[in-house]
Amino acid sequence: MKNLIINNTKIVTPLGKEAKKGNLMHDIEVIPDGCIIITEGIISYAGPMEGHPAVRPDEHYEVIDAKGNVSLPGFIDSHTHLIFGGFRPDEFEWRLKGDSYMSIMERGGGIQSTVNATREASKEELIDKAQWFVDRMSEMGVTTVEAKSGYGLDSETEIKMLDAISELADRPDQKVSIIATFLGAHAVPTEYKGHTTEYVDLIINEMLPKAKGKAKCCDVFCEKNVFELKDSRRLLEAAEAMGYSLKLHADEIVTLGGGELSAELGALSADHLLHVSDKGIQMMADAGVVATLLPLTAFALKEPYAPARKFIDAGAPVALATDLNPGSCFSGSIPLTIALACIYMNMSIEETITALTLNGAAALGMAHEIGSLEPGKRGDVIILGSDNYHILPYYVGMNCVKTTVHDGKVVTQNK
Ligand code: NIG
Ligand code: FE
Repeated sequence: MKNLIINNTKIVTPLGKEAKKGNLMHDIEVIPDGCIIITEGIISYAGPMEGHPAVRPDEHYEVIDAKGNVSLPGFIDSHTHLIFGGFRPDEFEWRLKGDSYMSIMERGGGIQSTVNATREASKEELIDKAQWFVDRMSEMGVTTVEAKSGYGLDSETEIKMLDAISELADRPDQKVSIIATFLGAHAVPTEYKGHTTEYVDLIINEMLPKAKGKAKCCDVFCEKNVFELKDSRRLLEAAEAMGYSLKLHADEIVTLGGGELSAELGALSADHLLHVSDKGIQMMADAGVVATLLPLTAFALKEPYAPARKFIDAGAPVALATDLNPGSCFSGSIPLTIALACIYMNMSIEETITALTLNGAAALGMAHEIGSLEPGKRGDVIILGSDNYHILPYYVGMNCVKTTVHDGKVVTQNK
């Protein structure tokens, strides 16, 4: 049944059907004695309990008494590499001893090592492995996750990854909505080393047409010595002409101008942005490109955090996501993301909530259907074990979510 009433709850939510920009990210609605009604999976009411006739139980509705605790929109993890073969603990160890992420990649490790393992894995193995992460995400309150391809780097394996994402998403009673992004331009594979132009041709002529309909967005690792600005632009313009929405891994390792490129191309989001220029920040703000910041990656790579305050002060919409992947950031921890955003990126908890809900939805082009608690949005709600949302960063790295509701159904109940 997808009909649910959450009674006696403190509703905490941003409102709207598009990204909140700049200082507006701080504005969230708080309704103390609230009630949320979900009908056929869609929110039909979210407001005060008092005087509302439909808050009484009825045989067609399951009823939860939230005992005054906080309800938030389900979290949206809008940047992950959820599907992958193998693991890379050795590489993690090398980095602890001083090796850099890019030097490991240039030696043929890094992304290429996951590519080798992903090519070997069957689709079913990839799906079963990813389900474990999806279950953990639901426990932390995630109701929508983006999953990228990008560990195939040949047509066959890229399509295998996208099919794995689609089959994972379509599993009966899946706890989380899963949105696929095509990332064939994640690295230049060994067999094309020194022939980046030819590899971009292969993506444009073969992979993008085959991936059409299987992925909503096209992403690129726009980085020095990977896909530089010219290659990234050519690829993204071709993708846009085929109907893809655009995303970029931008200015992650060095300042290259990926932020500026995302604004010029009108991308949905540019992500990472640890080394974005001031000009890139202003151009993204002016163009309304979502700045998706990934503090767990900065933490795991011992890099400086992205300049969240500069983005917000410039009027840009900021989202937060985990970047879960087997290399640079092997963590999908929403609680730690929240803590790092508040402690080290100087975001307020209200801005952080907006970044993980409505603005995450906007980074996926879905702000009209998810990301807030208001009529017409999908019934994706989390209930905390507290009546105070300020505990989210205070519980550093610990989970405060008690109940996760996805599409009007209770999918996870933490003890
Ligand atoms: O977002 N930088 C590129 N891509 C990923 C890392 C992927 C990997 O190391 O496997 C990232 O950090
Ligand atoms: Fe990434």
